[in-house]
Amino acid sequence: MSEMAKLIVREREYELPLIEGTEGELAVDIRKLRDQTGLITLDNGYASTGSCESKICFIDGEKGILRYRGIPIEQLCEHSTFTETAYLTIYGELPNEQQFEAWREELRYHTLLHEDLQHIYDMFPTGAHPMAVCSAVVCCLSAFYPRKETESPEISIRRLLAKIPTIAAWTYKKSKGQPLVYPRNDLSYAANFLNMMFRLPTEDYEIDPVAVRAMDQILIMHAEHEQNCSTSTVRMVSSSLANLFASVASGISALWGPLHGGANQRVVQMLAEIHEDGGDVSKFIARAKDKDSGYRLMGFGHRVYKNYDPRARILKGISDEVLTKLGVNDPLFDIAKQLEEVALSDEFFIERKLYPNVDFYSGLILRALGIPTEMFTVMFAIGRLPGWIAHWKERNEAPDARIYRPRQVYQGYTKRDYVPMSERS
Ligand code: CMC
Repeated sequence: MSEMAKLIVREREYELPLIEGTEGELAVDIRKLRDQTGLITLDNGYASTGSCESKICFIDGEKGILRYRGIPIEQLCEHSTFTETAYLTIYGELPNEQQFEAWREELRYHTLLHEDLQHIYDMFPTGAHPMAVCSAVVCCLSAFYPRKETESPEISIRRLLAKIPTIAAWTYKKSKGQPLVYPRNDLSYAANFLNMMFRLPTEDYEIDPVAVRAMDQILIMHAEHEQNCSTSTVRMVSSSLANLFASVASGISALWGPLHGGANQRVVQMLAEIHEDGGDVSKFIARAKDKDSGYRLMGFGHRVYKNYDPRARILKGISDEVLTKLGVNDPLFDIAKQLEEVALSDEFFIERKLYPNVDFYSGLILRALGIPTEMFTVMFAIGRLPGWIAHWKERNEAPDARIYRPRQVYQGYTKRDYVPMSERS
C-alpha cells in the first residue's frame, strides 16, 4: 500500500496518494480529487502545483542545484558542447561517438531555410522586434515543412534545431538591412551562428574561438529549466496535439516577457540607465524596495531558486573571463558587480531571498560578443530549444498524456438577466 495524505474538509476525511520523486520530493496526487470529493485546488501562479512527472531536469532551488538528465550544469558547461547537451536533454543519455557524429551530421544537413521563407521576412516592418519575427518564422515552418501523420517527429526535431540559428541570424540581418549570410556546414553550431550574424561582403570576419566557446556555454546554460513559463506553454500547447513548430513558437512568445527570458534585455537596459544616471546603484536599489514604484531590479529573484542561481554563478565567471580575453572594458560590468554586492547585503533582498538569476550576467557576455540588446532573448530561445523539444517529446510519449485543462474558482456575477440597451444607465 502506497503512502497516503489525509485531507479533512468540513469534517469529512479523504485519503490522497503521495508520490515520491527520485530526489525525494513528495507530492500529493490530486488527480482524482474532483471525482472523489467535488473539490478543486486553487494555486495562483502554480507555485505549489506539479503539472507532470518528468525525467528531464532536476532543480533544488534551496540548494542552488541544476542538473540536466542527472548531470550537473557545472560539468556540462565545462566539458560539453551545446549540440551534445541538446542530444542529452532530448534523448536522456550522452551520445556515444557514432551517435554524436550522426547527430551532428543531421543538424548540419538541415541548416538551410526554404528560399520562399525570405518573403516572410520581407513582410515585417523595419525595427520589428526580433522575438516577433522569430516566433512567426518558427510557426511558419509548419507550413513549409508539414509533417505527415505517418512520419516520425524526429525529422521536425532535427529541422528545428538546425534551422533556428539561421532563423535568428537572418532576423538580425533583415533588421539591419544587410545581405543574408547562408549557413556554413563546416563550422560548429555556435561558430556558424556567429558567422551568419556578423559576416559582411565588404570585409573579413574572423571567428574568434573565445567568442565561439562563450556562445556555446551560454546556450548550454539556457538549454533546460523544467516547468518554467515557456516550457509549460510548450507542454500546454502540445497537449492539444499541436505540431512541434507551433508549440515551440508559442514557447518563444511566452519567453519574450520581461519577467521571463525578456529580462536579459531589460538587465542591460537597467545597467545602462544606472550608468547614464551617474552610476549610483543605491538610488535604484531604493526604487526597487519601494513597492509603490512598481520598479524591480531586473535579473534578480526567481520563483524556484531561493539561493544563488547556479547559472548566474557560472555566467559571472565566464563574463569575467570573456571580457578579459576579448579585451572588452565594459563599465556596465562594474555596475553589475556593485549592484549585486549592495543588493546581497540589503535586508530587503536577503529576507526575500532575491539573488541574481541567469539573466543578470548573460546579457553582459552577449554584449561583449557584439550581440545587439534586442537579440538577447532570441539567444535565450536558441538555447532553450532542446528543453522545449524534450518536453514536447516527453509529453507526447507519456502513456497518461491528456489535454491540459485547468479549472478555476469563479468569482463573477451569479445569474442575472440581459438588459436591453435602451434600459441601461
Ligand atoms: N526586485 C525587487 N523586488 C523583487 C524582485 C526584484 N527583481 N523580485 C521579487 N521581488 C519581491 C516582490 O516584490 C515580492 O515582495 P513582497 O513579498 O514584499 O510582496 C517578493 O520579492 C516575491 O516576489 P514575487 O513577484 O511574488 O515572486 P515570483 O516568484 O512570483 O516572481 C520573478 C519571480 C522572477 C518573476 C521576480 O523575482 C521578478 O520579477 N524578477 C525580475 C525579472 C527577472 O529577472 N526575471 C528573470 C527570471 S530568471 C529567468 C527566466 O525565468 O527566464
